Amino acid sequence: MRECASAGPGRSGIRPRGPGRRPNRPHSRSGVVLLVEQRQRPDPGPVRTKAAPAGETRVVSWSHTGLEAVARFLGERTGLSFAVNRQASAEQGIRRLMRRAGIADPRAYRDLIQNDAHAFDELIVELTVGETYFFREPAQFEFLRREVLPEIVRRREPEQVIRAWSAGCASGEEAYSLAILLDEQGLAERSQVLGTDISRAALARARQAVYGPWSLRGDGAARARTYLRPDGNRFRLVETVRRRVNFEHLNLALDTYPSFSLGIWGMDLILCRNVLIYFDPDTVRTVAGRLFETLAPGGWLIAASSDPPLSGLAPFDVV
Ligand SMILES: C[S@@+](CC[C@H](N)C(=O)[O-])C[C@H]1O[C@@H](n2cnc3c(N)ncnc32)[C@H](O)[C@@H]1O
Repeated sequence: MRECASAGPGRSGIRPRGPGRRPNRPHSRSGVVLLVEQRQRPDPGPVRTKAAPAGETRVVSWSHTGLEAVARFLGERTGLSFAVNRQASAEQGIRRLMRRAGIADPRAYRDLIQNDAHAFDELIVELTVGETYFFREPAQFEFLRREVLPEIVRRREPEQVIRAWSAGCASGEEAYSLAILLDEQGLAERSQVLGTDISRAALARARQAVYGPWSLRGDGAARARTYLRPDGNRFRLVETVRRRVNFEHLNLALDTYPSFSLGIWGMDLILCRNVLIYFDPDTVRTVAGRLFETLAPGGWLIAASSDPPLSGLAPFDVV
């Protein structure tokens, strides 16, 4: 654990200001809270892409204006932005898909992704980072167990459902970790867990709920093993947990939530971790605002230790 600064990248638990008593927690001198895990090993998630292994620092800019136009179009639709040190790997990914589609001119490919939803989805799969694993940042799950869930239980009437959302869930490990935690705390029957992502391929894997050892690599993964059964050389999540989590497609950058019809509203708990880090600053701001609107009064938003600071972007109370 380490101390976090309110404006720095370390804080990870935030909630709307307003009524509702804060749980007891240790405050630092600046009034900010101790929470985020200090990892023993580097976390490969935020920096690794399919084409550029962790640690790669090539600095180049787009080699073709058409490729830049493809990235700009993707950014307009999804909020994804490609820092200079990610552009080379993004280019490789775009060129790979162009070859597969038999297209040589990046401008023609730009037209394709604008008009063909399947090609657009393929590009998203290629250029998003889907790294995740069970109980990633275990200190956050411990904070949820110790502070957040008891606070939600106190605030909610016993007959009220506890609503939790993994926003940008990738292949589902985060949403299932939440469901396991709720089960461990005896809250499974009165809770709902939603997982959403922009990648339909990732959502298909999430619904399958079959995982390899890579999904269990974190320090906190041991507790997930109780809920997994061997399936060949992989592991299948027990059905009781699998069916408690609902997975839906959602582009966080679009103005489609909060939404009663989509069931994305009144959340007691949102985990949006290692997603905002890939967005441009305007998208971070608008998504932070929408996540805020999607919380129930007194609800909690948990960001990752590597995510951009959200405190000034909506009236959150950072802890
Ligand atoms: C690194 S994973 C994070 C998974 C999980 N939250 C975690 O922390 O382990 C980032 C996920 O964000 C998703 N994503 C990227 N842009 C998105 C968008 N505009 N809307 C929804 N999901 C998005 C990607 O598809 C990917 O699955």
